Amino acid sequence: MALREIRLMGDEILTKPCKEVTKMTIRNKILINDMLDTMYEAQGVGLAAPQVGILKRIVVIDVGDGPVVMVNPEILESSGEQTGNEGCLSLPGKAGTVTRPMYVKVKAYDQNMKPVILEGEELLARAMCHEIDHLEGHMYVEFAEGPLFDAENEEEE
Ligand code: NI
Repeated sequence: MALREIRLMGDEILTKPCKEVTKMTIRNKILINDMLDTMYEAQGVGLAAPQVGILKRIVVIDVGDGPVVMVNPEILESSGEQTGNEGCLSLPGKAGTVTRPMYVKVKAYDQNMKPVILEGEELLARAMCHEIDHLEGHMYVEFAEGPLFDAENEEEE
């Protein structure tokens, strides 16, 4: 198990767009495993590669149904709407209210660069959107409705 340092808001790397992954190298496999370890250790539900200082389009998510790895994810479809509280491991202890789609369909590659189509609803849809935003250099605070507040039991991504 290897943990990586989680970059905090204010770190410039979190504002930069990430590069597509073209090949599943050993280095990328190690990164994915380390991201999963880091997310679980921090008790988060999602983590994007820039949050550990790597500008690659890689995301890991676990909303309680097991790990989901998305490489080069792209939202194909979204529908509905949900408004709820959202937190981020790069801004610990804080949360904000964000409106997201209720459903998203995502095209991505898995950890073996096999193409996959993933569907998410509710928290999974929220986490997918939140993490894909990180790959473009965006954080939820840019979309939060009203001021941020102290998180109590909010999940962090
Ligand atoms: Ni986040």
